[in-house]
Amino acid sequence: MKILSIETSCDETSVAVVEAKETRSPSKSERKNHKTSTRYTIKILSHVISSQIKTHAKFGGVVPEVAARKHAENFMGVFELAIGQAHIKLTQLDAVAVTYGPGLVTSLMVGISSAQTLAYALSIPLIPVNHMKGHIYSSFIHETRDPQEIFPALVLTVSGGHTELVLMRGYEKFKKIGQTLDDAAGEAFDKIAKMLSLPYPGGPEIAKHAESGDHTKYDFPRPLLHQRNFDFSFAGLKTSVLYFLRDQKKQHKRVTPRMIMDISASVQQAIVDCLVGKTIRAAKQYKVQTVILGGGVSANKKLREALESQLAEHLPHVKFMRPDFEYCTDNAAMIAVAGYFQYQGAKDKKKFLQTWKRIDADPTLEV
Ligand code: KG4
Ligand code: ZN
Repeated sequence: MKILSIETSCDETSVAVVEAKETRSPSKSERKNHKTSTRYTIKILSHVISSQIKTHAKFGGVVPEVAARKHAENFMGVFELAIGQAHIKLTQLDAVAVTYGPGLVTSLMVGISSAQTLAYALSIPLIPVNHMKGHIYSSFIHETRDPQEIFPALVLTVSGGHTELVLMRGYEKFKKIGQTLDDAAGEAFDKIAKMLSLPYPGGPEIAKHAESGDHTKYDFPRPLLHQRNFDFSFAGLKTSVLYFLRDQKKQHKRVTPRMIMDISASVQQAIVDCLVGKTIRAAKQYKVQTVILGGGVSANKKLREALESQLAEHLPHVKFMRPDFEYCTDNAAMIAVAGYFQYQGAKDKKKFLQTWKRIDADPTLEV
């Protein structure tokens, strides 16, 4: 099945063409029990992202009105490139997938109306995709294991707007078990970076400065880490950095480049400790086979390494899945993969032929 996917929920205009296949292969032991094993192969035929980061960096964050306008300006160019790189004709497409939430409403609308037009003109299904499910499925792009070896899985999704722990008992079987009570992890990175006068987006900047910093220098809070729930909170960490910087100013002390490195390392460590601590505990409690990481913050090397090594130490039988770096932050490839599994799992596939008539952007859509 060839899917063209569109992602415009925030500040990346992205289009991908993805070919997804299901293969059923009875292995020797399974043949005896008359069982078949189902595997999926995902091939990215093209994947184009036009980032607006430079535009928004001037304002220190994403300006929704500007983002929507840029999506409208950039869309056709990105679309044409994606079709060209995939070496396909539009008539070879089997479906269109589009992010319809969560995200910035006017940005979402640009992607949605383009997808509606395409699905209508080609008379093909239009699959509306939840952006956070896209992040969850970004780790499945190169995964070829039988679902029986993957699920149950625990997913930690960490992005600019969300921090969630989701239990996945199978494809399309999601249950949220915890989330942030205030700021998302990416938001904490971005806001703290702004306080330190580092450019937008703050996550990669903090990570870069942290490389030369001492993470034991400042003991920032790790809220909720030792509570038995699976929720997170990062607002206290942000306030703690704010107070520290305010006190420096009051005492007429300069915030030196060295201090910025040490604060960055200490903040990153506090965030990683909270994310990894809760994930390991949830993985134990729910006896999962796999832990999956997703969302923009999954590009953070410290987080990837810490989660992998803590899993190896505490739960060595649990497999770790995380997206390749190019699929960590917002991209259309993950939307195609999520769209494919949603389509595969739907009993009534014909309904997707009617989606173009009624699909609304949902800025606060939940998993
Ligand atoms: O998933 P994403 O691209 O967009 C949303 O859906 O929000 O995530 C963007 C977030 C931003 O907050 C950004 O600072 C953070 O991901 N991020 C990082 C890194 N790369 C991106 N945070 C920490 N370390 C990174 N290397
Ligand atoms: Zn995202």
